[in-house]
Amino acid sequence: MSADKVIVFDTTLRDGEQAAGTRLGVREKLEIAIQLASLGVDVIEAGFPISSPQDFEAVNLIAKEVKGSTICGLTRAVIADIDAAGKALEPAARRRIHTGLGISDIHIASKFRDEKYGKSLDDKKKRAMEMGIEAVKHARKYTDDVEFYCEDSGRADKQYLFKVIEAVIAAGATTINVPDTTGYAIPEQYGALIAEIIAKVPNSGKAIFSVHCHDDLGMSVANSLAGVKNGARQVEGTINGIGERAGNASLEEIVMAIRTRQDYFGIDTTINTKEFFRTSRMVAEMLGMPVPANKAIVGANAFAHSSGIHVDGFIKNPLTYEIIKPEDVGSPKSAVVLTARTGRAGVKHRLEELGYKLNKEELEQVYKRFLDIADKKTEVFDEDLAAIIGAEIRTIEHTFELQYLHVACGTGTLPTASVKIKLADGVKQAAACGDGPIDAAYEAIRIATGQNPKLENYAIKAVTGGKEALGEATVKIIGDDNRRFTGRGVSTDIIEASAKAYVDAINRMVAQDDIDKNLVGSL
Ligand code: KIV
Ligand code: ZN
Repeated sequence: MSADKVIVFDTTLRDGEQAAGTRLGVREKLEIAIQLASLGVDVIEAGFPISSPQDFEAVNLIAKEVKGSTICGLTRAVIADIDAAGKALEPAARRRIHTGLGISDIHIASKFRDEKYGKSLDDKKKRAMEMGIEAVKHARKYTDDVEFYCEDSGRADKQYLFKVIEAVIAAGATTINVPDTTGYAIPEQYGALIAEIIAKVPNSGKAIFSVHCHDDLGMSVANSLAGVKNGARQVEGTINGIGERAGNASLEEIVMAIRTRQDYFGIDTTINTKEFFRTSRMVAEMLGMPVPANKAIVGANAFAHSSGIHVDGFIKNPLTYEIIKPEDVGSPKSAVVLTARTGRAGVKHRLEELGYKLNKEELEQVYKRFLDIADKKTEVFDEDLAAIIGAEIRTIEHTFELQYLHVACGTGTLPTASVKIKLADGVKQAAACGDGPIDAAYEAIRIATGQNPKLENYAIKAVTGGKEALGEATVKIIGDDNRRFTGRGVSTDIIEASAKAYVDAINRMVAQDDIDKNLVGSL
């Protein structure tokens, strides 16, 4: 392992799945593990095999199917646990056993029974150390890759912690996990603990030190990074930071902090960060734990700009307000979210993106109306802007007019549509089939108009209630030069509303082309 590389250990399927109210099936675990391998995590902690037959099966299946990452199973420092993990991990090309026990006085005093481990704390601590050594030696029978966790290191008696670490490294542990199990540590303190372990444990050079932090005080990522800065070369965490209580450190945040602040850390991971967004959404969906909109790196608002000053700066140069490119984490591109606070520059920019070029007076007129709407709604959408333009500025020239539409569809038949479109110089008819009635109608319209825009978005909603409800269709199309145009259509018949919306969008596209041609002609 290069001294410049930080190993990424993902425990979404073990510690993450311990989050209250969550449970994944075996197949779901496999699907997530495959995605984690595409993300490039070095180690996947797939589960705790002795804990249930289902967990055993999941670890075993992942060990069989998932290539490219080391597959790891958790155990207590108990022989039966290690045997179960060894068996479950058998098919893996690279396998790791993660064993260990509670190290802090409070864990040892409270969890170890007097009858079995001795009456005094000292007796129990002695026995705990012996158990750790035996566990590591036993795990080494299954694999050379043995990680030892010193649970609750964040609150442990340091001198005892150092001794346990030295003993388990001597017994064959190759990675030492120093968990802040209760999220108690403060970054400076946790970083200093890692540095002190490396400096004071005589055989520390024979192991890699790993950080595993919980978020009870909201410092899990900061603590993990402090550990890395002080010599830890493995980070443990979960996607979206899910986990027990307040959760684990979020892997996407740790990895992106290390990547973005290369100037500070001088090291990196080999994670394919472009897979973060996809992985995040998969985990959120499967565990039923939605990602908060303001979550760093993968939240829906992580690359959204709204206030006037920010939007103005962002339009001039995205780097004014963005330190990560959304595409680097596989997120949809940055968005300007239009609200009452957005300001003229943001509205103008969005209108231009939509293909509207307005003069100063027109922009003022639209902006006034925009503010009226923005005061009533939390967000103003492209469709709202299109409606404002339609109502306030221009009724665009209708190059095409839908005169006739007939659609035939039903169970077991191929949906077909025929249309008659009025053009400036006559009428054109066309017929086509499609995957559904709307698809067929759109194909027929494309043939009749001779226009072939890409359909980006289609939405239908009821604008009035009752049997005679009006349906309003909104479509967004993309023209040849990648400009977007929105069209709307209203009818009691939703297929007709959809066809009208499509023709409306095409008219807007053609009208804009004409404006552009005239502009070029007058230069
Ligand atoms: O938080 C913790 O201490 C753990 C260990 C079992 C590694 O999850
Ligand atoms: Zn944990």
